Amino acid sequence: MTAFDLVLFGGTGDLAMRKLLPALYQRHRDTADAAGWRIIAVGRHPITREQFLARAQESLRRFVAATDFHDDAFARFAQCLDYRALDASRAESFGDLAALFADAGERIRVFYLATAPDLFVSICESLAAAGLVTPQSRVVLEKPLGRDLASANRINEKVGAIFREDQIYRIDHYLGKEPVQNLVALRFGNALLEPLWSRAWVSNVQITIAETVGVEGRGEFYDRIGALRDMVQNHLLQLLCILAMEPPTSIDADAVRDEKLKVLRALKPLTREDITTSAVRGQYRAGAIDGEAVAGYLDEQGIPSTSSTETFVALKAELGNWRWAGVPFYLRTGKRMQERLAEIVVTFRDVPHPILPTASGAREGNKLVIQLQPEESLSLHMMAKVPGDEMRVRPVQLGLDFGDTVQTRSWDAYERLLMDVIRGRLTLFMRRDELDAAWRWVEPILEAWSRPGDRPKSYTAGSWGPAAASALIARDGFGWREE
Ligand code: BG6
Repeated sequence: MTAFDLVLFGGTGDLAMRKLLPALYQRHRDTADAAGWRIIAVGRHPITREQFLARAQESLRRFVAATDFHDDAFARFAQCLDYRALDASRAESFGDLAALFADAGERIRVFYLATAPDLFVSICESLAAAGLVTPQSRVVLEKPLGRDLASANRINEKVGAIFREDQIYRIDHYLGKEPVQNLVALRFGNALLEPLWSRAWVSNVQITIAETVGVEGRGEFYDRIGALRDMVQNHLLQLLCILAMEPPTSIDADAVRDEKLKVLRALKPLTREDITTSAVRGQYRAGAIDGEAVAGYLDEQGIPSTSSTETFVALKAELGNWRWAGVPFYLRTGKRMQERLAEIVVTFRDVPHPILPTASGAREGNKLVIQLQPEESLSLHMMAKVPGDEMRVRPVQLGLDFGDTVQTRSWDAYERLLMDVIRGRLTLFMRRDELDAAWRWVEPILEAWSRPGDRPKSYTAGSWGPAAASALIARDGFGWREE
């Protein structure tokens, strides 16, 4: 495996401890020749390398499956780990870092910015000033990139003055998830679905990312962001792109990203009136998850008691193009929901002339359900005959459980994405124009929701969100799958 240096800003933060270090550990453990790996975690805390390693080991024990965590594998991984305390907002602090690279030559160099977006520009400028940006360098920018179109543009301009576009990896970890990759395989590795994959046969699409967790320890950060910026502008819209895009001419980065961009640009802009009817935002109040009482959002640590930040969003989106005109795409995400569930449901139209009665008396079209979490599975809901004398039909499921089929541990999204950065593969990362189009579409919603007096609807923790979200979809004659 290629030798590389990875500098991880935010090295003691939540993302590094929960996701990035576990992912690097797993790849290190499974890589035959990892001799040339060097990972330098950078953080504000004045701790020693040993103290950092102890923290990392503790996190890995917690976040890596017990069957995959071994002390000897950690000891080998630890040999390539280092730690530097540095104030990322002060250019003078970068001198120490430069010293570490004195003999690094043309090795691949990755700067991973797992920090708040307001530090992206100053970190990149300090890296450049310290002479650390080489032609072989890459920078990884975590989401959310900015808080609106203008701030995202500002960051992209400034970072773009230091790194070429093909050196910038804007990460959206949903694109690295195995089942999302499988959605690409399903659509472009099979001819079967393509003739059905349009307004002619699809009646509606639902994309849900529901979480049972609250804001955990990140209250202050989350309160400045909210669910629209945290989940919709990136994860949900990226899933929508993969689902709705035209077949690209190849799997090359720009071929794929050109097609995704067309989807984002085809999103019909939402007017003020649309936002009132087609967008719902919610905020959880106290309730119970799995039988345990949980606090409301306003009582979480770091949240002002008057906060109007949304922890839930449901939206109806439409695409203005020939393939999808008139097909509603319902997007929904929330914290403290009844279940942890990420899934895509494509509902097809009913048969044009039904001659067979259904057992329930109700009619429904076939459904393709792609579950990303907690299971990685795909199921096709078809009609089959009810056993017995009479000719009546009822829905049955043809299922594929990816875990059972492949019989191997599926890689975590960050494992794949980190290796892609090192190998220089940009396909699963967002290009600047995609980000721009995504912000452009959400901006009117952000504006409408920031009007004084506009407050999110309240929902009980442990439910499926505010009643208005059910009403939003019921108005079109559909329902969320779980309700
Ligand atoms: C992150 C959000 O991007 O995705 C978090 O910032 C959210 O708020 C997380 O919890 C969900 O990711 P996953 O992979 O656990 O579904």
